[in-house]
Formats: sequence, structure tokens, C-alpha cells
Amino acid sequence: MSPAPVLVVHGGAGRSSKPEDRVRYMAAVAAALDAGSSELAQGAGPAVIAAVEYMERDPALNAGLGAVLDADGRVLLDAGFMEGTGKRYGAVTCVTRCITPVVLARRLSEDGDFGRFIAGDAADRLAARWNVAPCDPDELVTTRSRARHLARAMTADTDPGADTVGAVALDAAGHVAAAVSTGGTACKPGGRVGDSPVVGAGFWADDRVGACVTTGVGEALLRQGTARRCVELIAAGRSAADAARIALSELSDHDGDERGAGGLIVVAHSGRAAIAHTSAEMPAGCARTGQAPRTGHAWPDRDVG
Ligand code: GLY
Repeated sequence: MSPAPVLVVHGGAGRSSKPEDRVRYMAAVAAALDAGSSELAQGAGPAVIAAVEYMERDPALNAGLGAVLDADGRVLLDAGFMEGTGKRYGAVTCVTRCITPVVLARRLSEDGDFGRFIAGDAADRLAARWNVAPCDPDELVTTRSRARHLARAMTADTDPGADTVGAVALDAAGHVAAAVSTGGTACKPGGRVGDSPVVGAGFWADDRVGACVTTGVGEALLRQGTARRCVELIAAGRSAADAARIALSELSDHDGDERGAGGLIVVAHSGRAAIAHTSAEMPAGCARTGQAPRTGHAWPDRDVG
């Protein structure tokens, strides 16, 4: 018998000392889980896109509208999407004129004429050409994100908040998909790109094995190719929860390199799924057809069935 379809969503590894922020993060994740679940019958791809697009449009999280600002006070967005069928992917980086870069990434996965991984102005032009939620750069900046940027610049706010958002899914036909979106790290130097839009580091999907997306310090996740590494550990016989634990533990393998708290979500072709993080918190949820959805701020057990 095929495993029940499952969707896993996260709102970013991190920690928030402000109770009102924790409530906002969790509400956004729960609503994204609902949005994605309602598309799961259409397939794993539509489910992860619906979940991540929801989070991009919700100003609570670090993706799309309301994402963190870079050192120059601009929002520069990254996103990636991959389907396990044929390992088709698309990705964008340094997007400044689109509210939903994950939709742009999906479009690139469908249309190889433009390349698969597009940066900056060229990505912004495609958003306008394809009418993918085009906007002015200032529209991405919220009052809250501007205030937090100013507080961070004065080191008055050291709360890491929540990082990147993402979703993975397995559908009834046995297909998997992964989607990720982020504003990157707060106050990042101009032009810096993290793991999220890089296939294998920020996202990976292979129908024969599973799908994974990561969150956390991009420099370490890029070096380790963590999303692909996690899926390959499953291919080598590890459970989803074990693969997640090992892949995250390897982020601190190399003395002298940048490292930091992070997290990932993964779903295996078998239907097993895991939510894992080394950060204090990672608002996340799991919805499996036929079962009540689960959401939470922290996942010490990793295994979500
Ligand atoms: N994980 C997001 C970034 O490092 O940019």
C-alpha cells in the first residue's frame, strides 16, 4: 500500500524572545500548512508552492513581503523549487521586484529556455514578464522589518527571529517536491548569497528517495550541501530522523569555518518525515492525509511519523 500523502512546513530556524513574534510565526506556519494541504491532492509540487507562497505573502516571516533587510537597507530575496520527478528545479537570487520568488523559481523549473538559476535584474524582469507578483522594491519593506533593521544596526536587537521558510511533500502518486524562500541573513553584505537558492544546499528532491529543505547559516549549509546530503543518507539506509540528525551534525565538522544553528525538514519516499533543528526553535508543522495536523515551536524528537 502507498504511504499517505504528507506535507511538512517550517517557518525558519531561530529563536524569538518576544511572545508576540512567536505567536505570529506559529500562526503563519499553521496557515501555510492549511494552504499547502488543500493542494496536496493536486500533487507534491502544488502543495509546497502553495505553502511557501503563503509564507512569502505573510509579513511575519523572513521571506517575500517583510523579509529582513541587507546591510544597505534593501530586501534581496532568494528561492528554489525542485520536483523529484526528473529532478527538475528552478531558482532565483537577489530578487528585488517580486513578492513571491518561489513562484518564479517554479516557473523556471518548467521553462528551461531562460536557464534554471537566475539572479538580480534578470529575475526581476522575468517576474514582470510573467506577471509573478511584481512589485516595487519598497513594497517588500514593512514598517516592522525597517524598525528591526534599524534596531539591529544599533545592536539594540540581537534576537535572531526566524530564518528561511520551506516545505517538502510526498503525494499519493509517490512524487516528492521541495520549495524554499528567504530574505537571507539580516544585515547581510550586498551581493552575499546563502544556501537557499542553491540546488543541493538549500533544497533537493528525488522521487526514488525523498525531499529536503534547509534553514540556518547559509555559509555552512552551502559547504556541506546539506539538503542533498540528508536525502543521500536516506538512500544509504538511514531513517529520515537519523539522516536529519547526521546532516545537521556535519555543519560543525570543520574547525575554523563558519557554523551556526540551523534546521531542516525532510520527507522520505517511504512516507517517513522528520523536522530537525539545532537552533533553539523552529516553528513547523506536519499534515498527513487522514491524521490531525501537528504544529510546534520545537521538535526535540525529530521523527514526525
Ligand atoms: N539560510 C539562508 C541564508 O543563509 O541565506
